[in-house]
Amino acid sequence: MTRPDLNADWQPASWQSLSAEQQPNYPDKVALDKAIGELSRLPPIVTSWEIEALKEQIAKAQRGAAFVLQGGDCAESFDDCTSENIVAKLKILLQMSLVMLYGLKKPVVRVGRMAGQYAKPRSADMETRDGIELPSYRGDLVNRNPFTKEDRIPDPTLILRGYERAALTLNFVRSLIDGGFADLHHPENWDLDWVGHSETADSYHEIVRSISDSLDFLESISGRAVHETQRADIYAAHEGLHLSYEQSQTRYLDHRNRWYNLTTHFPWIGMRTAKLDGAHVEFFRGISNPMGIKIGPGMTSEWLKGLLGVLNPDNEPGRISLIHRFGAKSIEKGLPPLIEAVRETGSPVLWICDPMHGNTESTADGTKTRRFDNIVGELETAFNVHESMGSYLGGVHLELTGENVTECTGGARGLTDGDLARAYKSPVDPRLNYEQAMEVAMRIAGLSKASGK
Ligand code: PEP
Ligand code: CO
Repeated sequence: MTRPDLNADWQPASWQSLSAEQQPNYPDKVALDKAIGELSRLPPIVTSWEIEALKEQIAKAQRGAAFVLQGGDCAESFDDCTSENIVAKLKILLQMSLVMLYGLKKPVVRVGRMAGQYAKPRSADMETRDGIELPSYRGDLVNRNPFTKEDRIPDPTLILRGYERAALTLNFVRSLIDGGFADLHHPENWDLDWVGHSETADSYHEIVRSISDSLDFLESISGRAVHETQRADIYAAHEGLHLSYEQSQTRYLDHRNRWYNLTTHFPWIGMRTAKLDGAHVEFFRGISNPMGIKIGPGMTSEWLKGLLGVLNPDNEPGRISLIHRFGAKSIEKGLPPLIEAVRETGSPVLWICDPMHGNTESTADGTKTRRFDNIVGELETAFNVHESMGSYLGGVHLELTGENVTECTGGARGLTDGDLARAYKSPVDPRLNYEQAMEVAMRIAGLSKASGK
């Protein structure tokens, strides 16, 4: 059938004529074409109905009437696609969202960094160890982490394995949610031993007690468990980095007259791939999904205005989320000019704070970590800066896991550099563990209460 003129200058493959950063260098192009061809024929992971529902939620958050909680692994791994892991991730996202709902008094929209967060940008194409140079690990969608030649050569069949795991993950998430996942709503079933270790234990106990009371009250007046009256939707998000993967599930939907990237509800453009004339921005401009743009030090007002002009020329509500990640030290200076610049464009955006990626540091022995205090410090400053400028911080973006890892230091249990070796599992960035993530949620609840919102 003939396509309408809308976006006639754009096709899912039009990015290919531009320079695409952070793409794997596949030695076997025939195998790549075969994998991409196969993926193009397979059913989508998400639907446009879900995508449009999320866009509406984000539009609502842009108006200040909802809050977005985006969280999950820095990089998902194929080995971690297990029942326990998925349950743990869902559990932490649901529990955090309840705590935040309580504090913010607004609906919380849950978006997992999951079901497709398999490709990573790297600072160098190659990695050298003991004089041996091999391609860098770019995520399980591309190659494997062990430092051997076989593992590091980009393997196109992994694209299909990634698609399958994304689908398995979302399939299980949908089933758990449809099945109720009941006990997770009640703080009696949460793991809250750590609260006693916190200096602010009293206020945390108060938050938990109030949530329990509210749930009991709601359930007694409705006569039904909370999960039976309120569906806890979870949307999927990942960095739209690997353009062949993204392209092969990008489809034109006749009933909507638009193109959608059906690998995920919410793809985002990473810091390293947001060049105005680059391939990623070209790809993103043609799809109708709500999308994130990571912004941080180095992003100028002119550049940001350019991005909004290209990616949202019609100022469509719900389409753009700006995920700022300056670092605790730089946010106060870096963020205000960008808030000002966006205001001048009149473009509706959702501001989301990522307090992780600007706060990464290395310990004396070279382990990548982040300090809990810097993470909540950046969050707190973000709330303050937005409030003082009459803007609205409508979301957080966190790297977290439901497991009991030791990757970030600090938090109620006061993890130190010496604790990191005990349970450091992330092959890339350090994540908040279950307790630290819950504590961040409680801090957010507390922050908003303190500012009287
Ligand atoms: C990420 O979100 O894992 C990431 C690489 O972030 P950024 O593009 O902001 O550095
Ligand atoms: Co990361």
